[in-house]
Amino acid sequence: MKKRVAVLISGRGSNLQALLDAEQDAYEITLVVANVPGVEGLDRARAAGVEALTLDHKPYGKNREAFERDLDALLVQRNIELIALAGFMRVLTPFFVNAWKGRLVNIHPSLLPKYPGVNTHARVLEAGESEHGCSVHLVVEEVDSGEILGQAKMPIRAGDTPDGLAERILLLEHELYPRCLAELARLP
Ligand code: GAR
Repeated sequence: MKKRVAVLISGRGSNLQALLDAEQDAYEITLVVANVPGVEGLDRARAAGVEALTLDHKPYGKNREAFERDLDALLVQRNIELIALAGFMRVLTPFFVNAWKGRLVNIHPSLLPKYPGVNTHARVLEAGESEHGCSVHLVVEEVDSGEILGQAKMPIRAGDTPDGLAERILLLEHELYPRCLAELARLP
């Protein structure tokens, strides 16, 4: 049986697209939720015939957990088994992380445990690193620190810019994420 996956997004959704394109025997994306209205990833979901919902976080103000309780209800109603964060730019509270422990994955544009957080490409260049990459990991309470399920690496070249690195890493992400999600989905 294919695992029912929800993908949470905040924007463009190129990783969502890669996950959709790579769907095979292990998982099926049955729901996409964006916390930002009108983003491109919602169109990608609809074009693939997948239910696409917006749950705008703004009306919830500072009450992160209230937002997450409504999100959780949507996921439970639809019998979701695994959640993939794909450019979902909100930090999740312990409530949500613990409710989905072991079933919640994220892709992050750095070789964790190096460079958690934002602006990874600029920070990697500033530090003079010789390689960079991306990581798929289980989500735990501490941001970008759960068990690493897979990584892809590439060398940094002279003259690389943050935008150029982001573009090259994205290609690695699109290959890595479906592979790791399928492996997780195959576990009993
Ligand atoms: C990706 O590079 C992803 O790794 C990053 O946002 C981008 C989303 O692109 N995620 C994070 O930085 C999470 N902290 P996409 O919307 O085209 O998939």
